[in-house]
Amino acid sequence: MGAISRTVVSAESETLFSIVSRWAWLVHKRDKRMRSGGMFVKQLKVGPMENFVYLVKDEESSEAAVVDSGWETKPILEEAKRSGARIEYVIATHNHFDHSATLGELAEAAGANTAAHESSPLSVDLRLRGGQKIRLGKSELEVLHTPGHTEDSICLYDGTDLFTGDTLFVGTFGRTDLPGGSAVKLFHSIQGTIMKLPPSALIYPGHDYGEVPARTLEEEAGLNPALLARDLRGFLAVVS
Ligand SMILES: [Fe+2]
Repeated sequence: MGAISRTVVSAESETLFSIVSRWAWLVHKRDKRMRSGGMFVKQLKVGPMENFVYLVKDEESSEAAVVDSGWETKPILEEAKRSGARIEYVIATHNHFDHSATLGELAEAAGANTAAHESSPLSVDLRLRGGQKIRLGKSELEVLHTPGHTEDSICLYDGTDLFTGDTLFVGTFGRTDLPGGSAVKLFHSIQGTIMKLPPSALIYPGHDYGEVPARTLEEEAGLNPALLARDLRGFLAVVS
C-alpha cells in the first residue's frame, strides 16, 4: 500500500523525461546482464496493486532470497526454477498484506525461512535487526531499518541494489498516514540512512508507481520530492 504524490512537470517535458528514463533503464539492464558474479535480480510484478517482488540470487552459489510475497507465489517459484535459484529466505519489507500475505506459503513451497524486522507483528522464522547481514553464498543483503511508512519497514542492500519496499518509490514515497506510520521517522530514514548510500545504488521499489521500474539514488535525488526536501519542515510540507 501506497504512494503519495508524483513530481509535477509539464506534459511535454514529462514525455521527454519518460523516453530518456526508459532508455537509461534499458542500458542499465544490458549492463547488468553483462556483469559477472555478484547478484542476479529478477523483478516480478504481481497482484492487483502494482506490487513488485524480487528474486535475488547469488550468481556463484545460486542461494537466493525473495523480497516480499503478498499475492501469487507461482510466478516466483517458476522464476526460481528457471534460473536455478535455491530460495533460502522469504523476507517481508514490512507487514502490509500486499507484501506479506503469502510469505509463509512461498517459504513452505521453497523450503525457506521467513524473515521480517524484529518489530514486525508478522509471525516469522527470523526477526531481523538493522545492520544485520543476510548471507547468500559469498554475497550479502544488509538490513536497513527505515521506519516511517510502518515501524517495521526495512530496506535491503546488496552493495549495488537497494530494495526499498514502500519506504521509497521511483518518483515518490510511501504513505505515513496508516497505523504505525510517521512522517518524522520517514524523513530521518531517508536522510539518515538511504541518502548515506552511494549515489549509484539502484532503487528497486515495492510498487510500480514510477516512470521506470527502478532508478539510481543519484537520479532520484534530483527528482523525488521526498529526497529534494532538505529539512524536516520542507519534508512535512511535501507529505501533508
Ligand atoms: Fe505498505
